[in-house]
Amino acid sequence: MHELPQTVDVLNDWVKAMMSGSANQSATDRSDKFDSSTAEACPQQSQGRTGLRQVPTLSLNSYTTGTAAERTRFIDQLYSGIKDYGFIVLQDHNVSRTLLDHAYTLLQEFYALPVETKLKYAGVSGGQRGYTPFGKEHAKDSPVMDLKEFWHVGREIPENHRFASYYPANIWPTEIHGFQTVFSELYAALSETGRQLLQALTGPLEVSSTYFDSMINEGNSILRLLHYPPIPATADPRCLRAAPHEDINLITILPAATATGLQLKDRDGTWLDVVGKPGELIVDAGDMLSRATNDVIPSTTHQVVNTASSSSRYSMPFFMHPHPEAILSCIPSCRGAGAKYPDIAAYEFLMQRLREIGLLKS
Ligand SMILES: [Fe+2]
Repeated sequence: MHELPQTVDVLNDWVKAMMSGSANQSATDRSDKFDSSTAEACPQQSQGRTGLRQVPTLSLNSYTTGTAAERTRFIDQLYSGIKDYGFIVLQDHNVSRTLLDHAYTLLQEFYALPVETKLKYAGVSGGQRGYTPFGKEHAKDSPVMDLKEFWHVGREIPENHRFASYYPANIWPTEIHGFQTVFSELYAALSETGRQLLQALTGPLEVSSTYFDSMINEGNSILRLLHYPPIPATADPRCLRAAPHEDINLITILPAATATGLQLKDRDGTWLDVVGKPGELIVDAGDMLSRATNDVIPSTTHQVVNTASSSSRYSMPFFMHPHPEAILSCIPSCRGAGAKYPDIAAYEFLMQRLREIGLLKS
């Protein structure tokens, strides 16, 4: 798929490049070293079956500190964007660019460690914490493994907390200075972003403004720190960096990655190339939100395709989860002809999905 331009300003240039056959050259020649000042612009448009489509780009500050009119507009655009497109792009939010850049620098340092060092941190609670090696996870129903390795950061809670039996303790690599501090801060910041976004959805869904708060307080959210190495020459040709799948959780908040490859399938079935500008957050819906809304907000299918580049790709999705005892139940305004799914505890649903993607054995 060709990469697409970020703004209407450059659309004409891109169309000319497409006509001359040179538009996909930007997927090559990238350095492994993340440099946000030169990171690639954001291709957020696509010539789908319905013509040019513009993924909604929203300012979170317009919701958190804006006027009543700005808040209303944000809520409307968030709901319609996530329902009709499957995702939105968020700017002007609470996660600092400095923090994101620092996090990506540490990711590169960690994944450059020898594999024997990284394996010291593998196998913690079925991959719920620490390191999961290359070739371990596959998409639900996919016959082949994804071409990635990753690290999981979870919520920190006191030992005697009511959810202590559900949440394994985090582990931290001692080789990388600042790893725990930076990723703990990033976890907290993204958790707050997610709380604000879910709160904004309560109006359109006609539930109380604290509906999601009661589910996500002390929630089981996961920050996944991903490395997609250069594609191995020996890789099964059926393997992708991440095969098409939907996320398990309520919503996913994805800071712009360091390279292209992410594609999200919008609601008309068109695969859209999406690479946010450095500092932007991409937000999409997961299976838990889909289930609670009776598929009014379907989970967003996405994938990470193999690019021609021989470079690594790094990304840091934040999976916003309820706490384990929260019940995923059909929201009354979404009931329509009736609830499609029985109520289920979030923990039970999560375990079911983890088995399906190979991270937990039956
Ligand atoms: Fe995903």
